[in-house]
Amino acid sequence: MNRTELIQEIFSNKTFTNYLEIGCRKGKSFLPVRAKNKTAVDPVFKIPITRKMKWLIKWPSNSKNNYFEEESDTFFAKRKTYLNQLGHLDIVLVDGLHNFRTSLNDVLNSLIYLNPKGLILMHDCYPPTAAAAFPSEFFPSKEEQKNIEGWSGEWCGDVWKSVVYLIRKYPYDLEAGVINTDYGLGFVMPKSGLKEMDFKIDEKLFAEIDKLTYEDMMKDPQGIINLKEASHTGYIISKITSRSK
Ligand SMILES: C[S@@+](CC[C@H](N)C(=O)[O-])C[C@H]1O[C@@H](n2cnc3c(N)ncnc32)[C@H](O)[C@@H]1O
Repeated sequence: MNRTELIQEIFSNKTFTNYLEIGCRKGKSFLPVRAKNKTAVDPVFKIPITRKMKWLIKWPSNSKNNYFEEESDTFFAKRKTYLNQLGHLDIVLVDGLHNFRTSLNDVLNSLIYLNPKGLILMHDCYPPTAAAAFPSEFFPSKEEQKNIEGWSGEWCGDVWKSVVYLIRKYPYDLEAGVINTDYGLGFVMPKSGLKEMDFKIDEKLFAEIDKLTYEDMMKDPQGIINLKEASHTGYIISKITSRSK
């Protein structure tokens, strides 16, 4: 099961309405989601008009989508009124800039607005190779790519470190880990309420985790990122849907 199928399955089973996708590019994962109220954030949308039309016919609610062409940090800083008016976010997909700090900020900012019974998913949390896990602020440049051994064009970056941070910082408040499917689907679910939580980055912990390498993580993925088998999607679906509808 990939990210879109998992998200769709939850929206079909549960009376959730609000979906946020950070990093949307061509709309491949965003447009098929059958949620009533969808928000997409990306500094450069590249959705082909033909795809928009196709999904408008298949899911007419796509006509009401809200697109914010800006970086996620800007979105969360500038769109507080919009976010507060939504009431809460039910499911968030974090798939924007694939570095530790940005992905962590995306999750922490999303948690402020998350339905306590909701779910945050993060794409690319279990990179297939060290080259795909290359830590870089942005997608590696052509020059950088030449120096990355085994580079194949796939870039997951070090988003996986955000999962480590969430596991270590919030052991009592969040259930977090990575499902071994679709390049690693990070999951974050509140264990109960979210009100008392501090969402500022703990720089000491951040620096500690930032020192970890891909090789460190691959030595013990179950221990470090709480890696779960692909079938764990079933657990996530039943857990989310069994919480009061
Ligand atoms: C891997 S693509 C997203 C793919 C999409 N979710 C899908 O599954 O089809 C990553 C996207 O993140 C966007 N992005 C880069 N920096 C960003 C930022 N700071 N905030 C939000 N999106 C960002 C890029 O423009 C790109 O379109």
